[in-house]
Amino acid sequence: MTDVGVSDMAMYIPPFYIPHRELASARGVPWEKYQIGLGNNKMSILPNWEDAVTMAANAGAQLLEKTGTGPKEIRQLVVCTESGVDHSKPVASFVQGLLKIGSRCRVYEIKHACYGGTAGIVHSIDWIARNHNLPKKALVIMTDIALYGFGSAGEPTQGAGAVALLIEKDPLLCSIDTSVNGVFSRDVFDFWRPTGHRFPVVDGKYSIACYLTALEGAVSHMRSNLGLHNERVLEAVDYLVYHMPFTNMSRKAHRHLIDFEYGDLGLEDREQLFVDTFKAKVEPGLLGAREVGNIYTGSVYMGLVSLLEAEAERVAGKRVGLFSYGSGCGAEFFVCEMKPEITKIIEGLRFQEQLNRRKRITFEQYVQICSKGWAEILYQPLEIQTFKDTFTRFAFTGLKDHKRQYVCL
Ligand code: HMG
Repeated sequence: MTDVGVSDMAMYIPPFYIPHRELASARGVPWEKYQIGLGNNKMSILPNWEDAVTMAANAGAQLLEKTGTGPKEIRQLVVCTESGVDHSKPVASFVQGLLKIGSRCRVYEIKHACYGGTAGIVHSIDWIARNHNLPKKALVIMTDIALYGFGSAGEPTQGAGAVALLIEKDPLLCSIDTSVNGVFSRDVFDFWRPTGHRFPVVDGKYSIACYLTALEGAVSHMRSNLGLHNERVLEAVDYLVYHMPFTNMSRKAHRHLIDFEYGDLGLEDREQLFVDTFKAKVEPGLLGAREVGNIYTGSVYMGLVSLLEAEAERVAGKRVGLFSYGSGCGAEFFVCEMKPEITKIIEGLRFQEQLNRRKRITFEQYVQICSKGWAEILYQPLEIQTFKDTFTRFAFTGLKDHKRQYVCL
Protein backbone atom coordinates (compact mmCIF):
# COMPACT_ATOMS: atom_id res chain seq x y z
CA MET A 1 0.00 0.00 0.00
CA THR A 2 1.29 3.50 -0.86
CA ASP A 3 2.27 5.50 2.18
CA VAL A 4 0.51 8.89 1.95
CA GLY A 5 -0.05 11.54 4.59
CA VAL A 6 1.11 14.90 5.90
CA SER A 7 4.68 16.11 5.42
CA ASP A 8 4.39 19.41 7.30
CA MET A 9 1.90 21.93 8.68
CA ALA A 10 1.75 25.70 9.26
CA MET A 11 -0.60 27.81 11.39
CA TYR A 12 -1.71 31.38 10.98
CA ILE A 13 -3.21 33.17 13.96
CA PRO A 14 -4.28 36.83 13.63
CA PRO A 15 -2.37 39.46 15.63
CA PHE A 16 -5.10 40.56 18.13
CA TYR A 17 -6.85 38.92 21.05
CA ILE A 18 -9.26 39.80 23.83
CA PRO A 19 -9.17 37.97 27.19
CA HIS A 20 -12.38 36.21 28.24
CA ARG A 21 -12.24 37.97 31.61
CA GLU A 22 -12.69 41.30 29.81
CA LEU A 23 -15.51 39.98 27.62
CA ALA A 24 -17.25 38.50 30.68
CA SER A 25 -17.02 41.76 32.60
CA ALA A 26 -18.43 43.75 29.64
CA ARG A 27 -21.31 41.27 29.23
CA GLY A 28 -22.08 41.07 32.98
CA VAL A 29 -21.38 37.32 33.05
CA PRO A 30 -19.27 35.69 35.83
CA TRP A 31 -15.80 35.11 34.30
CA GLU A 32 -15.89 31.56 35.68
CA LYS A 33 -18.57 30.64 33.15
CA TYR A 34 -16.22 31.35 30.23
CA GLN A 35 -12.92 30.27 31.78
CA ILE A 36 -14.04 27.29 33.85
CA GLY A 37 -17.39 26.36 32.24
CA LEU A 38 -16.24 26.62 28.60
CA GLY A 39 -12.50 26.33 29.36
CA ASN A 40 -11.57 29.36 27.22
CA ASN A 41 -9.01 31.98 28.13
CA LYS A 42 -8.55 34.29 25.13
CA MET A 43 -10.14 34.67 21.71
CA SER A 44 -8.35 35.74 18.54
CA ILE A 45 -9.76 38.76 16.77
CA LEU A 46 -9.27 39.28 13.07
CA PRO A 47 -8.39 42.87 12.07
CA ASN A 48 -10.35 44.46 9.22
CA TRP A 49 -7.40 44.20 6.84
CA GLU A 50 -7.56 40.42 7.01
CA ASP A 51 -10.13 37.81 5.94
CA ALA A 52 -10.35 34.10 5.10
CA VAL A 53 -8.21 34.68 1.98
CA THR A 54 -5.32 36.47 3.69
CA MET A 55 -5.24 33.99 6.58
CA ALA A 56 -5.13 31.06 4.13
CA ALA A 57 -2.39 32.73 2.08
CA ASN A 58 -0.38 33.55 5.22
CA ALA A 59 -0.50 29.92 6.38
CA GLY A 60 0.21 28.59 2.87
CA ALA A 61 3.17 30.95 2.27
CA GLN A 62 4.76 29.87 5.55
CA LEU A 63 4.35 26.20 4.63
CA LEU A 64 5.78 26.52 1.10
CA GLU A 65 8.73 28.51 2.40
CA LYS A 66 9.73 26.24 5.26
CA THR A 67 9.39 23.04 3.23
CA GLY A 68 11.22 24.54 0.23
CA THR A 69 8.24 23.63 -1.99
CA GLY A 70 7.96 25.61 -5.22
CA PRO A 71 4.42 26.92 -5.90
CA LYS A 72 4.43 25.07 -9.24
CA GLU A 73 4.99 21.73 -7.51
CA ILE A 74 1.49 21.97 -6.01
CA ARG A 75 -0.93 20.01 -8.24
CA GLN A 76 -4.00 20.28 -6.03
CA LEU A 77 -4.91 23.31 -3.92
CA VAL A 78 -7.96 22.85 -1.71
CA VAL A 79 -9.18 25.62 0.55
CA CYS A 80 -11.76 24.51 3.10
CA THR A 81 -13.87 27.20 4.70
CA GLU A 82 -17.31 28.29 5.83
CA SER A 83 -16.18 31.95 5.72
CA GLY A 84 -16.21 32.25 1.91
CA VAL A 85 -15.95 35.73 0.37
CA ASP A 86 -17.95 35.10 -2.82
CA HIS A 87 -20.81 32.81 -3.86
CA SER A 88 -18.96 31.74 -7.03
CA LYS A 89 -15.26 32.53 -6.98
CA PRO A 90 -13.57 30.17 -4.54
CA VAL A 91 -11.22 31.39 -1.81
CA ALA A 92 -8.79 28.89 -3.35
CA SER A 93 -8.51 30.99 -6.56
CA PHE A 94 -7.57 34.12 -4.61
CA VAL A 95 -4.99 32.05 -2.72
CA GLN A 96 -3.66 30.57 -5.97
CA GLY A 97 -2.97 34.12 -7.20
CA LEU A 98 -1.35 35.31 -3.96
CA LEU A 99 0.90 32.23 -3.64
CA LYS A 100 1.67 32.11 -7.38
CA ILE A 101 0.52 28.48 -7.68
CA GLY A 102 0.84 27.27 -11.31
CA SER A 103 -1.97 26.63 -13.80
CA ARG A 104 -1.51 22.86 -14.00
CA CYS A 105 -3.21 22.51 -10.65
CA ARG A 106 -6.72 21.54 -9.54
CA VAL A 107 -7.95 24.45 -7.43
CA TYR A 108 -11.22 24.38 -5.48
CA GLU A 109 -13.04 25.25 -2.28
CA ILE A 110 -14.86 22.85 0.03
CA LYS A 111 -17.63 23.77 2.41
CA HIS A 112 -19.05 21.49 5.04
CA ALA A 113 -19.07 23.55 8.25
CA CYS A 114 -16.11 22.52 10.45
CA TYR A 115 -15.78 19.13 8.70
CA GLY A 116 -14.71 20.61 5.31
CA GLY A 117 -10.97 20.45 6.07
CA THR A 118 -11.09 16.75 6.74
CA ALA A 119 -12.94 16.16 3.46
CA GLY A 120 -10.14 18.07 1.67
CA ILE A 121 -7.41 16.04 3.35
CA VAL A 122 -9.06 12.66 2.72
CA HIS A 123 -9.74 13.51 -0.91
CA SER A 124 -6.14 14.70 -1.45
CA ILE A 125 -4.66 11.58 0.18
CA ASP A 126 -6.84 9.29 -1.95
CA TRP A 127 -5.97 11.22 -5.13
CA ILE A 128 -2.24 10.90 -4.44
CA ALA A 129 -2.57 7.20 -3.54
CA ARG A 130 -4.34 6.55 -6.86
CA ASN A 131 -1.55 8.34 -8.78
CA HIS A 132 1.27 6.93 -6.70
CA ASN A 133 3.75 6.62 -9.59
CA LEU A 134 3.57 10.37 -10.31
CA PRO A 135 5.13 13.14 -8.20
CA LYS A 136 2.02 14.84 -6.79
CA LYS A 137 1.73 17.26 -3.91
CA ALA A 138 -1.46 18.75 -2.51
CA LEU A 139 -1.80 21.87 -0.39
CA VAL A 140 -4.89 21.75 1.84
CA ILE A 141 -5.73 24.90 3.78
CA MET A 142 -8.48 25.45 6.34
CA THR A 143 -9.35 29.06 7.06
CA ASP A 144 -12.22 30.46 9.11
CA ILE A 145 -13.60 33.28 11.20
CA ALA A 146 -15.94 32.05 13.93
CA LEU A 147 -18.18 35.08 14.36
CA TYR A 148 -21.34 35.07 16.50
CA GLY A 149 -23.71 37.90 17.40
CA PHE A 150 -22.77 40.38 20.15
CA GLY A 151 -24.05 39.08 23.49
CA SER A 152 -25.10 35.69 22.07
CA ALA A 153 -24.31 32.38 23.82
CA GLY A 154 -21.76 31.61 21.08
CA GLU A 155 -19.87 34.92 21.46
CA PRO A 156 -17.28 33.56 23.96
CA THR A 157 -16.50 30.69 21.53
CA GLN A 158 -15.35 33.00 18.71
CA GLY A 159 -11.90 32.83 17.12
CA ALA A 160 -10.08 33.04 13.79
CA GLY A 161 -7.17 31.29 12.14
CA ALA A 162 -5.89 29.08 9.35
CA VAL A 163 -3.96 25.81 9.09
CA ALA A 164 -2.10 24.59 5.99
CA LEU A 165 -1.03 20.98 5.35
CA LEU A 166 1.30 19.60 2.72
CA ILE A 167 0.02 16.18 1.59
CA GLU A 168 2.31 13.83 -0.31
CA LYS A 169 3.60 10.31 -0.83
CA ASP A 170 6.20 9.05 1.67
CA PRO A 171 5.20 11.81 4.11
CA LEU A 172 7.65 13.20 6.67
CA LEU A 173 5.27 13.94 9.56
CA CYS A 174 2.53 11.29 9.62
CA SER A 175 0.80 8.62 7.52
CA ILE A 176 -2.98 8.34 7.26
CA ASP A 177 -4.67 5.17 6.02
CA THR A 178 -8.04 6.56 4.95
CA SER A 179 -9.44 3.12 4.07
CA VAL A 180 -10.20 2.42 7.73
CA ASN A 181 -11.58 5.85 8.69
CA GLY A 182 -14.97 5.91 10.38
CA VAL A 183 -17.53 8.36 9.01
CA PHE A 184 -20.92 9.56 10.18
CA SER A 185 -23.32 12.06 8.65
CA ARG A 186 -26.95 13.06 9.08
CA ASP A 187 -29.25 15.90 7.95
CA VAL A 188 -29.76 18.09 11.06
CA PHE A 189 -30.21 21.77 11.96
CA ASP A 190 -27.79 22.18 14.86
CA PHE A 191 -25.77 25.17 13.61
CA TRP A 192 -26.25 26.84 10.23
CA ARG A 193 -25.82 30.23 8.54
CA PRO A 194 -28.57 30.96 6.03
CA THR A 195 -27.35 32.66 2.84
CA GLY A 196 -26.94 36.39 3.46
CA HIS A 197 -26.76 36.08 7.26
CA ARG A 198 -23.66 37.48 8.93
CA PHE A 199 -24.00 35.25 12.01
CA PRO A 200 -24.94 31.58 12.38
CA VAL A 201 -28.21 30.38 13.86
CA VAL A 202 -27.43 27.92 16.64
CA ASP A 203 -29.33 25.35 18.63
CA GLY A 204 -26.47 25.13 21.14
CA LYS A 205 -27.46 22.20 23.36
CA TYR A 206 -28.76 20.20 20.39
CA SER A 207 -25.46 20.83 18.54
CA ILE A 208 -23.60 19.22 21.44
CA ALA A 209 -25.95 16.21 21.32
CA CYS A 210 -25.44 15.88 17.52
CA TYR A 211 -21.65 16.05 17.99
CA LEU A 212 -21.72 13.24 20.59
CA THR A 213 -23.98 11.04 18.44
CA ALA A 214 -21.61 11.58 15.50
CA LEU A 215 -18.60 10.60 17.62
CA GLU A 216 -20.26 7.34 18.56
CA GLY A 217 -21.29 6.68 14.94
CA ALA A 218 -17.84 7.42 13.51
CA VAL A 219 -16.05 5.17 16.04
CA SER A 220 -18.53 2.38 15.37
CA HIS A 221 -17.94 2.70 11.60
CA MET A 222 -14.17 2.63 12.10
CA ARG A 223 -14.56 -0.60 14.05
CA SER A 224 -16.58 -2.21 11.26
CA ASN A 225 -13.91 -1.01 8.75
CA LEU A 226 -11.35 -2.95 10.82
CA GLY A 227 -9.60 0.31 11.79
CA LEU A 228 -10.18 -1.06 15.28
CA HIS A 229 -10.02 -4.80 15.89
CA ASN A 230 -10.71 -6.21 19.34
CA GLU A 231 -9.12 -3.24 21.08
CA ARG A 232 -11.00 -0.17 22.26
CA VAL A 233 -10.11 3.35 21.04
CA LEU A 234 -8.07 4.16 24.14
CA GLU A 235 -5.91 1.06 23.61
CA ALA A 236 -5.48 1.80 19.88
CA VAL A 237 -4.21 5.39 20.17
CA ASP A 238 -1.64 7.21 22.31
CA TYR A 239 -3.33 10.61 21.99
CA LEU A 240 -6.77 11.92 21.04
CA VAL A 241 -7.66 15.26 19.49
CA TYR A 242 -11.35 16.17 19.29
CA HIS A 243 -12.89 19.00 17.28
CA MET A 244 -13.05 21.84 19.80
CA PRO A 245 -15.60 24.62 19.31
CA PHE A 246 -14.70 25.46 22.93
CA THR A 247 -12.07 23.72 25.04
CA ASN A 248 -14.39 21.79 27.33
CA MET A 249 -16.18 20.17 24.38
CA SER A 250 -13.20 17.81 24.44
CA ARG A 251 -14.14 16.82 28.03
CA LYS A 252 -17.74 16.13 27.02
CA ALA A 253 -16.52 14.11 24.02
CA HIS A 254 -13.99 12.10 26.01
CA ARG A 255 -16.49 11.33 28.77
CA HIS A 256 -18.98 10.15 26.14
CA LEU A 257 -16.34 7.99 24.44
CA ILE A 258 -15.59 6.27 27.75
CA ASP A 259 -19.29 5.78 28.50
CA PHE A 260 -19.99 4.02 25.22
CA GLU A 261 -16.71 2.12 24.99
CA TYR A 262 -16.58 0.99 28.63
CA GLY A 263 -20.24 0.34 29.45
CA ASP A 264 -19.03 -2.86 31.22
CA LEU A 265 -17.26 -0.79 33.92
CA GLY A 266 -18.96 0.71 36.98
CA LEU A 267 -19.45 4.49 37.35
CA GLU A 268 -16.43 5.01 39.63
CA ASP A 269 -14.05 3.06 37.38
CA ARG A 270 -15.26 4.96 34.35
CA GLU A 271 -14.68 8.26 36.17
CA GLN A 272 -11.14 7.21 37.13
CA LEU A 273 -10.42 6.12 33.55
CA PHE A 274 -11.72 9.48 32.33
CA VAL A 275 -9.49 11.45 34.70
CA ASP A 276 -6.36 9.44 33.87
CA THR A 277 -6.76 9.22 30.12
CA PHE A 278 -7.96 12.80 29.68
CA LYS A 279 -4.79 14.08 31.33
CA ALA A 280 -2.43 11.81 29.41
CA LYS A 281 -4.07 11.61 25.99
CA VAL A 282 -6.27 14.69 25.49
CA GLU A 283 -4.96 17.59 27.61
CA PRO A 284 -1.73 18.09 25.61
CA GLY A 285 -3.81 19.20 22.59
CA LEU A 286 -5.89 21.90 24.29
CA LEU A 287 -3.70 25.01 24.03
CA GLY A 288 -5.08 26.31 20.72
CA ALA A 289 -8.76 26.06 21.69
CA ARG A 290 -8.07 27.76 25.03
CA GLU A 291 -5.95 30.62 23.63
CA VAL A 292 -7.46 31.17 20.15
CA GLY A 293 -11.08 29.92 20.28
CA ASN A 294 -12.97 28.10 17.56
CA ILE A 295 -11.41 28.28 14.10
CA TYR A 296 -14.07 25.97 12.61
CA THR A 297 -12.41 23.89 9.81
CA GLY A 298 -8.93 24.23 11.32
CA SER A 299 -9.95 23.59 14.92
CA VAL A 300 -9.04 19.90 15.20
CA TYR A 301 -5.79 20.49 13.26
CA MET A 302 -4.86 23.37 15.58
CA GLY A 303 -5.36 20.78 18.33
CA LEU A 304 -2.89 18.51 16.55
CA VAL A 305 -0.34 21.35 16.30
CA SER A 306 -0.84 22.11 20.03
CA LEU A 307 -0.25 18.44 20.84
CA LEU A 308 2.89 18.23 18.69
CA GLU A 309 4.47 21.24 20.43
CA ALA A 310 3.41 20.12 23.92
CA GLU A 311 4.62 16.52 23.46
CA ALA A 312 7.62 17.28 21.22
CA GLU A 313 9.83 14.90 23.22
CA ARG A 314 7.36 12.01 23.25
CA VAL A 315 5.06 12.09 20.22
CA ALA A 316 7.40 10.61 17.56
CA GLY A 317 6.26 7.15 16.44
CA LYS A 318 2.93 7.47 18.30
CA ARG A 319 -0.65 7.06 17.07
CA VAL A 320 -2.90 10.11 17.29
CA GLY A 321 -6.68 9.67 16.92
CA LEU A 322 -8.52 12.67 15.43
CA PHE A 323 -12.25 13.33 15.59
CA SER A 324 -13.47 15.90 13.09
CA TYR A 325 -17.05 17.22 13.36
CA GLY A 326 -18.96 19.71 11.23
CA SER A 327 -22.49 20.84 11.88
CA GLY A 328 -25.20 19.93 9.49
CA CYS A 329 -23.72 17.31 10.15
CA GLY A 330 -20.67 15.27 9.03
CA ALA A 331 -17.90 13.64 11.03
CA GLU A 332 -14.87 11.40 10.65
CA PHE A 333 -12.62 9.54 13.06
CA PHE A 334 -9.13 8.62 11.85
CA VAL A 335 -5.60 7.91 13.00
CA CYS A 336 -2.34 9.74 12.20
CA GLU A 337 0.70 7.47 12.54
CA MET A 338 3.51 9.81 13.49
CA LYS A 339 6.91 9.21 11.89
CA PRO A 340 9.96 8.49 14.08
CA GLU A 341 12.02 11.59 13.08
CA ILE A 342 9.84 14.67 13.47
CA THR A 343 11.77 16.95 15.84
CA LYS A 344 12.75 19.48 13.14
CA ILE A 345 9.19 19.63 11.79
CA ILE A 346 7.83 20.32 15.27
CA GLU A 347 10.42 23.07 15.83
CA GLY A 348 9.25 24.72 12.61
CA LEU A 349 5.58 24.94 13.74
CA ARG A 350 6.17 28.16 15.77
CA PHE A 351 2.65 28.08 17.17
CA GLN A 352 3.49 29.29 20.67
CA GLU A 353 5.64 32.03 19.10
CA GLN A 354 2.62 33.24 17.11
CA LEU A 355 0.44 33.28 20.21
CA ASN A 356 3.09 35.27 22.07
CA ARG A 357 3.32 37.93 19.34
CA ARG A 358 -0.38 38.88 19.60
CA LYS A 359 -1.49 42.26 20.96
CA ARG A 360 -4.29 42.57 23.49
CA ILE A 361 -7.14 44.85 22.37
CA THR A 362 -9.87 46.42 24.48
CA PHE A 363 -13.54 45.45 24.47
CA GLU A 364 -14.32 48.76 22.68
CA GLN A 365 -11.78 48.00 19.93
CA TYR A 366 -13.25 44.50 19.55
CA VAL A 367 -16.75 45.96 19.09
CA GLN A 368 -15.45 48.50 16.57
CA ILE A 369 -13.59 45.86 14.49
CA CYS A 370 -16.46 43.37 14.44
CA SER A 371 -19.09 46.00 13.60
CA LYS A 372 -17.54 46.97 10.26
CA GLY A 373 -18.81 45.54 6.96
CA TRP A 374 -16.50 44.87 4.01
CA ALA A 375 -17.85 47.83 2.05
CA GLU A 376 -16.52 50.19 4.76
CA ILE A 377 -12.95 48.92 4.46
CA LEU A 378 -10.34 50.83 2.48
CA TYR A 379 -6.64 50.89 3.28
CA GLN A 380 -4.03 53.04 1.57
CA PRO A 381 -0.67 51.57 0.43
CA LEU A 382 1.41 53.41 3.06
CA GLU A 383 -0.95 52.56 5.91
CA ILE A 384 -1.00 48.81 5.18
CA GLN A 385 2.79 48.42 5.35
CA THR A 386 2.53 48.89 9.13
CA PHE A 387 0.41 45.69 9.40
CA LYS A 388 3.29 43.47 8.31
CA ASP A 389 4.96 41.15 10.81
CA THR A 390 6.83 37.83 10.64
CA PHE A 391 3.61 35.91 9.99
CA THR A 392 1.34 38.50 8.34
CA ARG A 393 2.35 38.85 4.69
CA PHE A 394 -0.94 39.64 2.90
CA ALA A 395 -3.63 42.27 3.44
CA PHE A 396 -7.14 42.94 2.16
CA THR A 397 -7.40 46.59 1.10
CA GLY A 398 -11.06 46.88 0.10
CA LEU A 399 -13.45 46.43 -2.84
CA LYS A 400 -13.06 47.98 -6.28
CA ASP A 401 -15.67 47.34 -9.01
CA HIS A 402 -17.00 44.49 -6.82
CA LYS A 403 -13.54 42.89 -6.91
CA ARG A 404 -11.72 42.16 -3.68
CA GLN A 405 -8.26 43.74 -3.59
CA TYR A 406 -5.28 42.11 -1.88
CA VAL A 407 -1.64 43.10 -1.56
CA CYS A 408 1.54 41.31 -0.58
CA LEU A 409 3.10 43.41 2.20
P1 HMG B 1 -24.71 28.55 27.26
O1 HMG B 1 -25.96 27.78 27.10
O2 HMG B 1 -24.82 30.02 27.47
O3 HMG B 1 -23.82 28.01 28.44
O4 HMG B 1 -23.77 28.30 26.03
P2 HMG B 1 -24.18 26.94 29.60
O5 HMG B 1 -25.24 27.49 30.46
O6 HMG B 1 -24.36 25.57 29.00
O7 HMG B 1 -22.80 27.02 30.38
C1 HMG B 1 -21.63 26.55 29.79
C2 HMG B 1 -20.88 25.78 30.84
O8 HMG B 1 -20.45 26.72 31.84
C3 HMG B 1 -21.72 24.73 31.57
O9 HMG B 1 -20.86 23.64 31.83
C4 HMG B 1 -22.10 25.45 32.85
O10 HMG B 1 -22.38 24.56 33.95
C5 HMG B 1 -20.86 26.25 33.12
P3 HMG B 1 -21.34 22.13 31.50
O11 HMG B 1 -22.53 21.88 32.35
O12 HMG B 1 -21.73 22.12 30.04
O13 HMG B 1 -20.16 21.29 31.81
N1 HMG B 1 -21.05 27.45 33.98
C6 HMG B 1 -20.21 27.81 34.95
N2 HMG B 1 -19.05 27.25 35.40
C7 HMG B 1 -18.40 27.88 36.43
N3 HMG B 1 -18.88 29.02 37.01
C8 HMG B 1 -20.03 29.60 36.59
C9 HMG B 1 -20.75 29.00 35.52
N4 HMG B 1 -21.88 29.29 34.85
C10 HMG B 1 -22.07 28.34 33.91
N5 HMG B 1 -20.45 30.74 37.18
C11 HMG B 1 -23.03 26.76 24.28
C12 HMG B 1 -23.00 27.10 25.78
C13 HMG B 1 -21.94 25.76 23.96
C14 HMG B 1 -24.40 26.17 23.95
C15 HMG B 1 -22.81 28.07 23.49
O14 HMG B 1 -21.52 28.57 23.72
C16 HMG B 1 -23.01 27.91 21.99
O15 HMG B 1 -24.11 27.96 21.47
N6 HMG B 1 -21.88 27.71 21.25
C17 HMG B 1 -21.90 27.56 19.79
C18 HMG B 1 -22.29 26.15 19.36
C19 HMG B 1 -21.26 25.11 19.77
O16 HMG B 1 -20.13 25.41 20.05
N7 HMG B 1 -21.67 23.80 19.72
C20 HMG B 1 -20.78 22.74 20.01
C21 HMG B 1 -21.04 21.46 19.16
S1 HMG B 1 -21.41 21.82 17.45
C22 HMG B 1 -19.84 22.09 16.72
O17 HMG B 1 -18.84 21.80 17.31
C23 HMG B 1 -19.82 22.71 15.36
C24 HMG B 1 -19.29 24.15 15.30
O18 HMG B 1 -17.90 24.16 15.47
C25 HMG B 1 -19.72 24.80 13.97
C26 HMG B 1 -19.33 24.12 12.65
O19 HMG B 1 -19.32 22.91 12.50
O20 HMG B 1 -19.12 24.89 11.70
C27 HMG B 1 -19.90 25.02 16.40
